[in-house]
Parts: sequence; C-alpha cells; structure tokens
Amino acid sequence: MENEALIPEDDAGIRAYMRSQEHKSLLRFLTCGSVDDGKSTLIGRLLYDTKLIFEDQLATLKNDTRKHGTTGEEFDFALLVDGLEAEREQGITIDVAYRFFATSPRKFIVADTPGHEQYTRNMATGASTADVAVILIDARQGVLKQTRRHSFIVSQLGIRHIALAVNKIDLVDFSKDVFDRIVADYRAFARDLGFASITPIPLSARYGDNVTTPSARMDWYHGPTLLAFLETVEVDRDAAQGPLRFPVQYVNRPNLDFRGFAGTIASGSVKVGDTVTVAKSGQSSKVKRIVLGADDRDAAIAGEAVTLVLEDEIEVSRGNMLVAPDQRPHVADQLAANLIWFDEEPLFAGRPYLLRTETDQMPATVTAIKHRIDVNTFAQEAAKSLAMNEIGHCNLSLQAPLAFDAYKDNRLTGAFILIDRLTNATVAAGLIDHPLRRASNVHWQALDVTREARAEQKHQKAVTLWFTGLSGSGKSTIANLLDKRLFALGKHATLLDGDNVRHGLNRDLGFTEADRVENIRRVAEVARLMTDAGLITMVSFISPFREDRQMARERLPDGAFVEIFVDTPFEECARRDVKGLYAKALRGEIKNFTGVDSPYEAPENPDIHLRTSGRDAADMAEEIETWLKARGYL
Ligand code: ADX
Repeated sequence: MENEALIPEDDAGIRAYMRSQEHKSLLRFLTCGSVDDGKSTLIGRLLYDTKLIFEDQLATLKNDTRKHGTTGEEFDFALLVDGLEAEREQGITIDVAYRFFATSPRKFIVADTPGHEQYTRNMATGASTADVAVILIDARQGVLKQTRRHSFIVSQLGIRHIALAVNKIDLVDFSKDVFDRIVADYRAFARDLGFASITPIPLSARYGDNVTTPSARMDWYHGPTLLAFLETVEVDRDAAQGPLRFPVQYVNRPNLDFRGFAGTIASGSVKVGDTVTVAKSGQSSKVKRIVLGADDRDAAIAGEAVTLVLEDEIEVSRGNMLVAPDQRPHVADQLAANLIWFDEEPLFAGRPYLLRTETDQMPATVTAIKHRIDVNTFAQEAAKSLAMNEIGHCNLSLQAPLAFDAYKDNRLTGAFILIDRLTNATVAAGLIDHPLRRASNVHWQALDVTREARAEQKHQKAVTLWFTGLSGSGKSTIANLLDKRLFALGKHATLLDGDNVRHGLNRDLGFTEADRVENIRRVAEVARLMTDAGLITMVSFISPFREDRQMARERLPDGAFVEIFVDTPFEECARRDVKGLYAKALRGEIKNFTGVDSPYEAPENPDIHLRTSGRDAADMAEEIETWLKARGYL
C-alpha cells in the first residue's frame, strides 16, 4: 500500500484502519503557523471531530485537561496533539509527525512538525508530497511577516492550493470586517505566488466553528468548513504520470542468483520488459522482474517500494537512478538551487557541507549566493550570507556528479538538504533550479610530474603546516623561526602569512565572517598549489573557524595537512599587543576583532598543540622540527 511506509511500526491500529480505507482518495496537507496561531489545537480538533481518537487516549485527555489544561471545561486539543507527539518521539526518529484521519469521501495525512522547521523538514525528508497548505492566521494579528514567509516557502515547494484559516475569529467578535481585511491583505500579497486557489475560512479551532461543522455564529459566511474544503479540493498532481524516476536505495543481493535494485518509485511507472537507463552512466537494460514484498508484479507505479531485477549485469549503486531512456534527468556536478536556510549559523559561500538527496550524498560547496529573496516583496537583493529562515538563489559545486530533475518538474528528485558535517545538523533545504554547464567544459588536466616526484627531488615530503591562533599569539614568529631552520637544513619551504597575503591576493577582504571564510578558502587553495609543487608550505593565519580549517584539510591529500595550534591566552595576547590592535579593538575602534567581538574556535584535536605561556619561540620551532622528523616528513 502506497503510504504504508510512512506509518510508524507501532501504530498497528492505524495501519489496519488505513488498509480498510484504501479505496478512498488521499489528500496530504500541511499546516503552517507560528506556535500561538493554534496549529496544535486545530489538528487536535480535526482528529477529535473526525473521531479518530482511541477511547483510552480520550480518557487520558480528560484527565490531562483537568490537570494542565488552559481551557476550563473544554477539552484542550493542543494537549492531545502534544501528547501524541511525546509518544512518537520515543519510538521513531523522523522529524515529521504524520497524523491520519478519514471521512467518508477521503482519507488524510497531515504532516506536522514543531516550529520553523516544518516546511523545510517536510520537504527535506521527502515527505513534501503535500497537495494543500493550511495557512493559519491569528485574526487579532492579521497577515504577519511569518505568514508571508510560510506562504512563499509553500509556493516554492510547489503546493498550489491554500486554505487561509483565519483562526480565533471568536476573539474578534466574529467580525466580518476583520476577516475581509485579512483576506484582502493576503490576496494582495499572494498575487504573484502562483497559487491555483486560495480559500479563506473564518474559524475557531478552540470552539470548533467552521472546522468540521458550520458555525452558527457567523451568518455572513457562506463558504465551506475547513473539513469540507479538504474533502472536496481538487488536486491535480499525479506522480504516476511523469517519466520514470527510480532512485536506488540499495542493491539487494541476498545470494549469488539474485541481484536487484531496491527503492521507491519517485515518479512514473515501470513494466516488466521496459528498457531503463542508468542516469549517471547512460547504460541501459531491460526490466526482468519487479518484486514487491514476496510477490512478483508485472508493473509498478510512483509511490511503490519495489525491487527491480534487470536482464544485464550493469553497475548501479546507491544514489544512482534508473530512468526512462527517452526522458533522462540532469547529471551534473554544478547546479543552481534555491536554498532555504534554517541553521542559526548563517550560510557563507565557500563553506563545505554534505549534500543529501533521497538516496545520494556527497560533499558540496555553495560557490556563490546569487541573490537573497525578500519574502515580503519578492525582490532579489545582493547578499554575502543567508541568515536563519532566509531564502537565497545559490550556485553549488558538488564533489561528484548528481542525477536530478528541476524541482518544478519533480519534487522528490529535485530536492536536497545540506548537512553540517561537524554538528550533523540539517542546515538547509535545497530546491534545484537547473544544472550549471559552464564547468563541464573545463576538465582536470593531468600532470605527469607528480607531487610526490617533485617532493622527492627536494628530499622531503610535501606538506602544509597550518598555524592557527589569536592575533599576536606568536604564529608568525614561530613559523618564521621554523622556516629558517628548514632553510638551513636545505629544505624547500615557503611561508604564507595572513598579514602579507592580505596585502596582495586578499586585499579586497576585510574581517567579517564572510570575508574570513573567503580569506581561508583562497589561502587553502594556494597552499594546495604550493604543496602540489612539492614544497613544505607554512600557513600562518588566525583562521578562527573550525569549519574552514577542516575545509583546508580536505583540500589536501591525507597526511599532507598538519594543524598547529599556537595556544596563547587572550589576556596574554592583549597584554603583549605588539601591533596596538587589541587596545584599539577594546576601545571599540576596530570592529570584528578576533577574541573581542568575533569568535575564535580553538582546535579540538590539533596535530601539534603549543601552549606558549612561559616558552621560548625558538624552542617551539625546534619541537615542530622534531615532530616532522619523527614522522618522516623531513
Ligand atoms: S583571519 O581571521 O582571516 O584568518 P588573518 O590571519 O588573515 O585573519 O589576518 C589577521 C591579521 O590582521 C591580524 O594579525 C591583525 O594584524 C590584522 N587585523 C586587522 N583587523 C583585524 C580584526 N578585526 N581581527 C583580527 N585581525 C585583524
């Protein structure tokens, strides 16, 4: 059954119930609103009124309402939903909670997640197959920035039908004027968002007015209740119509006689005997068997989880796609996408992340933020960074080719998320616009003289020695002494110093976070070129951000990056203050000064940790030399 995969294992009751409802059409919707708009109350009300509440949960609800409720004698529906939430939190790990209910014409899946992550996470987990968005507005507040942002994101996600739920209408005396004003405001704002329909409904989730039963308290309103709208709205999407997209989840090889590709059909359909093409390699074969559970099938359609067995032994690994031969997806390692940023740490171009689609993943870098989109005016504005909840049009460069569609063509194969590799947090959702072909005409030119050969000729190993630490910590002093020792040993080394590089290559950069990211990216590239030339390359930059040092490490081959933490306490650097900069920064005359009003993230695991207090610089230079000798670098 199509949606069974979405149902948590433990909900056997719901599973059985859904099975009995199979003949009914299915509507997926999501609710958007901030915490106080009454989202939980509304969902609770829908569930309650449609009688999909188990008796025992009802009993608990009555007790809970007496204990914690805020509504006196009425049931507190928010408590019900939050209770289910807590229950689910223990058992399942997906971010999105799905709730199910049904009425005679239709069954419903409502995707519900807490807070701002709702829309992005829905999409990110591949669950954004919603047909309708219920946008909640507090009648007392009207259309807020939040409403506009949610609506914009919903439109970007490809949702075409909106129920504008003007909630808490009881708190504005069921006023038609208030309702009309909000609706007019919203329509004016949403004109350019391309929704196919906007259905405004005045309601009170708390008292049930116009949720499932028409309100007796608004004789001026003649439209549908929210439930009636959900039961009748015509949705026009049919994933089974599109070209075949079968992202391979894993290769199923239980024994030598069987080799199948398992996954869920993202769009289109497939029959035994169909020719399918491997997206990334272009190889084709015919479908020999379609296995679903214990059965063999003749055909399968979008939404079904199947294993495909092909006639030929061709290479298809996880993340690749089997597709219709005459309608192939894009395959590229550079693409343009809209990013919805939802991390507290802003996005800066140049930082590496992990890009993950339904089945594929690879390191990726946002190479440029082309523009940010103002969610109020839809204006495109220049931007160097994206803050939490901002949306920007960006170029990305991937470490390997990805098979994908434009998001407008396919909401499953056109979406991805970005993951911060240090914290593992999901930081953005991406909606792909188009591949970038520019780069595909530039190929890597192989050089016959290798880095190893160049280094060997110099009787050394090529390596980057990366000095990090506060301004005035002694990085350059120690690096300079080491440079002299290496020179005396007849080694071929070079020293890239922050202050010096900022006079030339990086003279266009200042000290904002975005500029520092770019500063480090460039010097990391230069260090790589110099290391490729066989040199011992010393880099002496504050390089305050862990992620950027990690990026530099990844630019170099294994073992060719040595992180040296020059660990001098802030107080000591400020006391020494060789360049007089600390005094100025502490007086507020220099902005974004590291350690004062810009952070320094100390290395957690440096290869060499120099605690400088009370030590002689020459001594520490010698320590590094000894370390390098012991490991065969010199
Ligand atoms: S980094 O943070 O981007 O790696 P970098 O090493 O290139 O910094 O440059 C740091 C040097 O610039 C410092 O040693 C100091 O002399 C000078 N400087 C000027 N303004 C600042 C500032 N706001 N923060 C830190 N260093 C500054």
